[in-house]
Amino acid sequence: MPQTVIIGSDHAGVLLKKILVDHLAAAGHTVVDVGPADAKSVDYPLYAASVCDAVLAQNALGILICGTGLGMSMTANRRPGIRAALCGNEFMARMARMHNDANVLCLGERVTGQGLALSITDAFVAASFEGGRHQRRLDLMETCHGGPVSK
Ligand code: RB5
Repeated sequence: MPQTVIIGSDHAGVLLKKILVDHLAAAGHTVVDVGPADAKSVDYPLYAASVCDAVLAQNALGILICGTGLGMSMTANRRPGIRAALCGNEFMARMARMHNDANVLCLGERVTGQGLALSITDAFVAASFEGGRHQRRLDLMETCHGGPVSK
């Protein structure tokens, strides 16, 4: 099913970002690239914030790419309503959507090869949330970080 995908990177992810933009558009998805346009050094939290804003406003999927994917995922996961998943293989990407209802995929351009990154992205965009017991666990994510929950 065609999706709207908001994508952003820092300088260390801009090459992979361009490849994913072309790939997703060719597959019929609507892709919004929040930048940057080139490999000039930038600060990844600013682009993570732009993608998170648009994902929440449009109820869309997001993709964030930096060198490792770590800074992007740490930043994105501080935003209420964002569930960002740093994925290194297709299984993780599929499970991130099916079990965790992840709405942002994070990738590391310096870690994950281009072919694998394309497969991870395809798996993420194609999968959907299963709900049921997984919804209960997502609800707990919102409520249980004040301390251990009672048994
Ligand atoms: C940039 O050098 C690098 O630190 C950044 O892309 C990212 O990997 C941070 O988590």
